[in-house]
Amino acid sequence: MDSPEPKFVPVARLADLPLGSARAFEVGRKLVAVFHTAEGLFALDDHCPHSGGPLSEGDLRSDVVTCRWHGAGFRLSTGRSAGAMRCKPATCFSVRVHDGWIEVEER
Ligand code: FES
Repeated sequence: MDSPEPKFVPVARLADLPLGSARAFEVGRKLVAVFHTAEGLFALDDHCPHSGGPLSEGDLRSDVVTCRWHGAGFRLSTGRSAGAMRCKPATCFSVRVHDGWIEVEER
């Protein structure tokens, strides 16, 4: 059985999320953190899987965001735990640019 096409929701103009920055957006019933890095755009559930800290407000270095609440790090491309503090992975969302708009997969 084929899975249905993912639904993408526009959240912001690409020009409004400068390189090196991140912001959280409501996508359906979820809050999704979108990161704009030199490697591209990435999207993770904004709620840190450790205890709910806002990953969009974390420290962004290369492809790792570090939660500012207790210091858990997560790879943007996979959501997997990175760094000394091990944690279950953050949920990743597909993200794309369409007609100058950042669009995030709604789940
Ligand atoms: S809530 Fe993110 S590290 Fe604890």
